[in-house]
Amino acid sequence: MSEGLPPVLEEGGDRTVAGVRDGLGAASGAGGTGGLDRRRFIRWLLGFSIVSSLAMIVTPIIGFLIPSRTATAGVGGRVLAGTLESLPVGSGAVVAVGAKPAVVVNTSGGVKAYSAICTHLGCIVAWDAALTMIVCPCHDGRFSPATGAVVSGPPPAPLPPLTAVVEGSDIYIVTG
Ligand code: FES
Repeated sequence: MSEGLPPVLEEGGDRTVAGVRDGLGAASGAGGTGGLDRRRFIRWLLGFSIVSSLAMIVTPIIGFLIPSRTATAGVGGRVLAGTLESLPVGSGAVVAVGAKPAVVVNTSGGVKAYSAICTHLGCIVAWDAALTMIVCPCHDGRFSPATGAVVSGPPPAPLPPLTAVVEGSDIYIVTG
């Protein structure tokens, strides 16, 4: 009768709840510390859940109250895109304006800036120094550096223009 049963269920064992609990603790070999470890683990789990929940609530609030530099760069201001020394006439570059890319070109008619997102399928265009043209690497769409107009390829529309301002030797792109 006693084979295969925990000690508490043996004949003459303590059949109260406390007895069963003690018996199970004894059967597991953990003695009285099994319950304590379990309680500590549950307390830790509860604390972890509370901290995680608070973090999930507080993080977006902090993000809303303290926007990142990248986000603020895209609204109501301007972004330094380079200098006349780094972008001499006949050169261009893709720069980050907030979270979006822009292509800045120093043409003989002045500094121009456009969205660097191709109007075909949204690839990021690049400045091609050899062709002296803005080129999309995805399907070889080509754009005029002077106007952003499509020169060749599949893009259906010109690159949207951005406002570029030169102050001293600094080139800014107006974002707002
Ligand atoms: S995505 Fe630019 S040419 Fe197709």
